[in-house]
Amino acid sequence: MIYGIGTDICDVRRIAATLGRQGDRFPQRVLSDAEYAIWQARSARWPQRGLRYLATRFSAKEAFSKAIGTGMHMPMSWRLCEIANLKSGKPVIVLHGGLKEWFEAQGLSAHVTVTDETDYAASFVVVERDK
Ligand SMILES: CC(C)(COP(=O)(O)OP(=O)(O)OC[C@H]1O[C@@H](n2cnc3c(N)ncnc32)[C@H](O)[C@@H]1OP(=O)(O)O)[C@@H](O)C(=O)NCCC(=O)NCCS
Repeated sequence: MIYGIGTDICDVRRIAATLGRQGDRFPQRVLSDAEYAIWQARSARWPQRGLRYLATRFSAKEAFSKAIGTGMHMPMSWRLCEIANLKSGKPVIVLHGGLKEWFEAQGLSAHVTVTDETDYAASFVVVERDK
């Protein structure tokens, strides 16, 4: 059964402005270690792609926080919710630490989709419960 749904739209220009103000501290706070490595590689090759990557991750994490109903509060936290990609490119949610334990203890699973255009990134998350 469906446990919750969440959606988010993110203005890429606001992400760029925050990055401009905070520099690396911003992606370090929002991205998991694996995401941060991808962000660095993409940003180094093409800054705009790095920015879009950061914006879609930011948006998907917010959408996930809504789907589980906590917002950005415990047990949810930015770095414990990773948006990875399968070989095909399909995004998948990989949880860590206390968030993973909490999520699995309740028999939950998640589906995520993300999209972006020049100035916006958007995400949609569905969380299911197995009983
Ligand atoms: C849920 C949350 C993530 C959404 O915040 P937001 O991006 O400011 O706002 P959005 O416009 O995307 O979404 C707001 C909507 O989320 C929904 N929402 C709020 N709390 C929610 C919750 N606990 N569960 C599910 N949905 C929630 C509401 O419908 C709200 O709209 P409404 O008040 O008109 O009904 C927010 O409650 C939160 O925890 N924000 C923390 C953000 C933060 O830490 N930013 C720091 C940047 S590093």
